Amino acid sequence: MGGSPAGAVSQALDRFKALLSREEYAQLLAELERPLPQALRINPLKINPAEAIQAWAERYHWTLKPVYYEPAGWQVESSPGPISQTIEHRLGFYYIQDAASMLPATLFDLDPARQPLILDMAASPGGKTTHLASRSGDQGLIIANDASLSRLPALRIVLKNWSAYHTAITHYPGEILGDWLPEKFDCVLLDAPCSMQGLRSTESHPMRSITDNEKLGLAQRQGRLLQSAFKAVRPGGQVVYSTCTLTPEEDEAVLDALLAHFPGLAEVEDISRHFPQPVPALTSDGGSRQFDPSVTRAARLWPHRLGTSGFFAALIRKQGSLDLPRAPFDQKAKPASRTTTALTSSQQAELLSRLSQAYGFDFFQQVEQDGLVLARGPAIHHTVPIYAQPSSFETHFPGLRVQSLGLLFGEETPDGFVLSHEWATRFGQHFNAGRYLIADDQIPAWISGEDLPGLSLPASPETRIVIVTDAPGRNLGRGKIQRDRLRNLLPKNSL
Ligand SMILES: C[S@@+](CC[C@H](N)C(=O)[O-])C[C@H]1O[C@@H](n2cnc3c(N)ncnc32)[C@H](O)[C@@H]1O
Repeated sequence: MGGSPAGAVSQALDRFKALLSREEYAQLLAELERPLPQALRINPLKINPAEAIQAWAERYHWTLKPVYYEPAGWQVESSPGPISQTIEHRLGFYYIQDAASMLPATLFDLDPARQPLILDMAASPGGKTTHLASRSGDQGLIIANDASLSRLPALRIVLKNWSAYHTAITHYPGEILGDWLPEKFDCVLLDAPCSMQGLRSTESHPMRSITDNEKLGLAQRQGRLLQSAFKAVRPGGQVVYSTCTLTPEEDEAVLDALLAHFPGLAEVEDISRHFPQPVPALTSDGGSRQFDPSVTRAARLWPHRLGTSGFFAALIRKQGSLDLPRAPFDQKAKPASRTTTALTSSQQAELLSRLSQAYGFDFFQQVEQDGLVLARGPAIHHTVPIYAQPSSFETHFPGLRVQSLGLLFGEETPDGFVLSHEWATRFGQHFNAGRYLIADDQIPAWISGEDLPGLSLPASPETRIVIVTDAPGRNLGRGKIQRDRLRNLLPKNSL
């Protein structure tokens, strides 16, 4: 029994019983009998969330409940079909994420106009990175870091689908980033690796039993990571510490240890305004250990409190400088960065003006106003990728090796320039040309990935790639006009 997810839940419940009043424990048990509603968060970089949710609820017959603290977040209480199987999900118009996981990014005071520098220290697969990109209006810069090489591909796919370009992916143990980049960031998110004792076992996150030794090892690592996060944030900046576990050793105790380590410098902020009812953290671990009284300002989301998975989050403000020296980057053991070479300004201007004409959209202004530079990557089979990269990266992080920087803009192919899926899904709705309307009865075939036959349209190299739309004007992804058909360029990897 102990090895199954259900066994793990009942073992954790035995432990947690002592942390709740009898009444609350009964509420928790009742809550766990109810299915956890799926939830989604809308991508404001691609669509207006308020308008989109109404249209989707009607189209897909969803019953919705707002996520209290996130205006672009919705719990889907009922849906005739899986919410993962829509074209909008496939094209990154929304991300499926448990409502509790939407909490950490909402806690930061983020002002896009101030171009915030953000570190997401343990980022993969990137759900919260996409949320940070939304909240910062894809301005400033997000370093999305993860120590696990095998988890970087997932992070890449999620960021690509969100179409945020002010991002860089790095692959370092988070523990060293505070020494390498002391007092650099306005905001640091540490969504820590944890034992996942959140009491809601799902297919993608099955709960398993853990030993005391594992818990101790995790807590020690969390402590080191949180100290590193605190070093990396600038004086006056904010750190969010979050876990999807309810074990006090990994939650309140880690926060309490940080406060003890940096007395007077680390302050837990009051976040109660984010919740419809109090969700205070614990005052003690249920045994002899009492925590600093300010620890209770953190949020402990028992599942019955807001109808989510179990979750913990704290917002910490850095009240002064630690006066740390900056340790030099030691990147010898890391694989080299992907090398890119910036286009000359006339090459960039020429490409942008060709595309602006082809699509009736001011690519020039978009690239300029967002401080992007176009850069060529290494050719793969006669195809040269062109990336849109934030020019601020070099200013703030010279010499830091990255796994990737910015967003694919398009590809130079022997057949002409192919605008990327990432840009087409982010901006295609605003194109005044290069759109191709398909009939209602063609939509199911298109969405299932089929080519549409029967075309005989002339097309210049730049207008061969079109944004496919339907009568209501939805962006249905890219197609390629060929002599006898419209080739389907919908991504294959996310359905
Ligand atoms: C809870 S998950 C992060 C989930 C992610 N924030 C999201 O919302 O999609 C924790 C991540 O920490 C990474 N990790 C584990 N140890 C780490 C370390 N020492 N430094 C940085 N990342 C680490 C794991 O590979 C894992 O991807």
